[in-house]
Amino acid sequence: MIKRKSKREIEKMKEAGELLASVHKELRSFIKPGVTTMEIEQFVERYLDKHGATGEQKGYQGYEYTTCASINDEICHGFPRKEKLEEGDIVTVDMVVKLNGFLADSAWTHPVGEISEEARKLMDVSKTSLYRGIEAAQVGNRIGDIGHAIQSYAEGEGYSVVREFTGHGIGETIHEDPYIPHFGEAGKGARLKDGMVITIEPMINVGDWQSKMDDNQWTARTVDGSLSAQYEHTIAITKEGPFILTAQEDE
Ligand code: MF3
Ligand code: CO
Repeated sequence: MIKRKSKREIEKMKEAGELLASVHKELRSFIKPGVTTMEIEQFVERYLDKHGATGEQKGYQGYEYTTCASINDEICHGFPRKEKLEEGDIVTVDMVVKLNGFLADSAWTHPVGEISEEARKLMDVSKTSLYRGIEAAQVGNRIGDIGHAIQSYAEGEGYSVVREFTGHGIGETIHEDPYIPHFGEAGKGARLKDGMVITIEPMINVGDWQSKMDDNQWTARTVDGSLSAQYEHTIAITKEGPFILTAQEDE
């Protein structure tokens, strides 16, 4: 069942989204060679606590951390850990923030120091693919239009789109209907309606789209070991167009 949100609910989710966006902005300077993803986790926990918010991922289906931190060939759901990030790594930090009972979800790939041309290009294409998807999230369009916009752009640039993980509706819980694949056919799927709040979060790989699961049963990584990046926003679909609730202004 797809639940639509009122203007007031969307405003409240936007407050959570603005706080989440400010976390990613803080992380831009916090993340550098020598920092660990466990330190990122602790930084985020303290920051949310200071701002009267909590992380919704911790405890969700047994997940034990506030953040996911996915490094290089890890696609998503990497665990925060004690090894130091190295110059040239890329790390995707994903979190769901709860503020005054309302949620927002956003992932962002951050560079660690100076990165390769290959990594920079992947990040650019991944971010643009997110915005192509958002542009397609118009009232009256269909879910397939979002995936089609992302896939045709990313594949056209020579990259691949992960199939196993999708965007999703978000409201009282992290994952609600509808599910939003980042690939697909234009004109297919459910119609997008005013008041729907969804995430769009394409995971884009340099090599093949296939993923494999680590022994921890959470972390997915590319089968071919190629780099993967991800940008995710929570958006409201409105008659005035898609409204990004987790916008970082300058991004
Ligand atoms: N934020 C993730 C998403 O975009 C949710 C991760 S599941 C969790 O769907 F268990 F790690 F929280
Ligand atoms: Co997320």
